Amino acid sequence: MRLRKKPWAEPEMRQDPKVIFTPAEFKGRWNSVFKNPNPIHLEIGCGKGQFIAQKALLNPKINYIALDYQNEVLIYLLRKVNELGIENIRIIRMRADFLEDAFDKNEIGKIYINFCNPWPKERHQKRRLTHTRFLKKYSLFLKKESFLEFKTDDAMLYEDTLNYFEDSGFSIQYKTSDLHASDIKGNIMTEYEKKFSSIGIKIKYACAKKALD
Ligand SMILES: C[S@@+](CC[C@H](N)C(=O)[O-])C[C@H]1O[C@@H](n2cnc3c(N)ncnc32)[C@H](O)[C@@H]1O
Repeated sequence: MRLRKKPWAEPEMRQDPKVIFTPAEFKGRWNSVFKNPNPIHLEIGCGKGQFIAQKALLNPKINYIALDYQNEVLIYLLRKVNELGIENIRIIRMRADFLEDAFDKNEIGKIYINFCNPWPKERHQKRRLTHTRFLKKYSLFLKKESFLEFKTDDAMLYEDTLNYFEDSGFSIQYKTSDLHASDIKGNIMTEYEKKFSSIGIKIKYACAKKALD
């Protein structure tokens, strides 16, 4: 997703301590950033952050980290967090490719990946945020028996991701190729989810548990 440049976004974000540009500094001590011992949940590729902002409002006893590499989307989340006075979110601007530098073993209690880029060409598939290459990195800091929840509009990415889970020590707990018609309660829609479901595309969902340590 290429967005119009917003040169003013980074200076505004740099003034706000809720945005972290050097996450490796906090590896192993994220609870001290939140100043509480509550569990930490991570959304990778959060975009404008509607999903994680809602999650944080509904679950004040959970700490949320929203990660994306584009200032152009994170600025919307930062403004939302400040307007709504949300205390339990921090925002990391970085590429997921370096996540193992940011978090220590067992530091994260849940991961969300929503509508990541499908990268349909075979030679690009390693860039998918659910590719085995990434799942193995996430395993380094996701607690054992903890969950990764995934949503997409893309049927091929969905099917491939189910295989990536199986190949990377995650066991699938629940899957559906029509989330909105399923018995899952309390789904929070993301920006992309609203867009795709409004034109009749079914939302695919899977929840997988990290089975191996
Ligand atoms: C298609 S958008 C989905 C945004 C949001 N999750 C939603 O469902 O509305 C994918 C997001 O993933 C981010 N992204 C893609 N590759 C990434 C990477 N390697 N590291 C971090 N973020 C990434 C993009 O910047 C973009 O904001």
